[in-house]
Amino acid sequence: MTDLYAVIGNPIGHTKSPWIHSAFAEATGQHISYTAIEGPLGGFAARVNAFRREGGRGLNITVPFKVDACEYATDLSERAALAGAVNAMKFEGERAFAENFDGLGLTNDIQRNHSYPLAGKRVLVLGAGGAARGALRPFLEQKPALLVIANRTRTKAQDLAAKFSVYGPIQAIDYSDLDQHAPFDLVVNATSASLRGELPPVPAAAFVRGCLAYELVYGKGLTPFLRASQSAGAGRQAGNGAADRAAHRAAELTPRQGDLQTRPIRRGPARERFLGWAGERFPRRGRVRRRRIVKQWCRYVPI
Ligand code: ATR
Repeated sequence: MTDLYAVIGNPIGHTKSPWIHSAFAEATGQHISYTAIEGPLGGFAARVNAFRREGGRGLNITVPFKVDACEYATDLSERAALAGAVNAMKFEGERAFAENFDGLGLTNDIQRNHSYPLAGKRVLVLGAGGAARGALRPFLEQKPALLVIANRTRTKAQDLAAKFSVYGPIQAIDYSDLDQHAPFDLVVNATSASLRGELPPVPAAAFVRGCLAYELVYGKGLTPFLRASQSAGAGRQAGNGAADRAAHRAAELTPRQGDLQTRPIRRGPARERFLGWAGERFPRRGRVRRRRIVKQWCRYVPI
């Protein structure tokens, strides 16, 4: 029987999820239907209930419903509860199990796509809202030398540092004192300042040559933060939604799974099937190009 899955967001027209997910399902021999749902603003729960009545088994959740999904879920994973947001849910009877892969997407993008291991690094996270909150534990799990969190409203950074200190070395430091703790190897802008073309008050000394400046805000190009990091001499600029895409790619593959875990496709029958699928889908592309497609789109399969 064909299982029913979807991604829900608003707007949702831009999503490639149905295409990617169907491709993976095909490549891994699963029979599923995967669609895109434009959820009505303020009507998330009703729309999800309707989807479940139609037989929906799982959902990926994107902006602006990640917090609504957190409230909707009956069972939150530890990661989702800590982040206060959800980007994948699966349904079993009355239960809605929820997970959050955003942090995984972020650390994967930095470590794999940018070949920038976080172990032993000095990391600075700007902001203490939802985006920062979701990133702290995944960063600490990679064992940085120190994670510093700076926020305009000092108490919010202090609260987060206290809460996450069980996971590793984390300190809240005011923007005005950052000079004394600089430089950092990685500076992540997890504030919403770039949405309004603003720059958080990060001192130029925070950046050094070879440092990676990472912007979490989606699709805003060279933001004031990335520009400032360039002028201050940061070696590399990255982000702008790549982490979100990586997280979705991970989440897209998981709704069928009990514990929602994934593993990278490197070899084995799933990868071979996917290569075969890419060959049929892109007959004119050469083998090298097809392998690149598989590498790009096919980082994970469900465990
Ligand atoms: P999100 O869920 O996207 O993180 P949020 O929860 O509203 O959004 O948090 C926004 C974060 O960006 C906050 O840390 C905010 O700082 P305050 O807690 O002091 O409000 C930070 N922020 C927004 N605009 C900023 C700016 N111009 N300079 C510095 N920090 C800014």
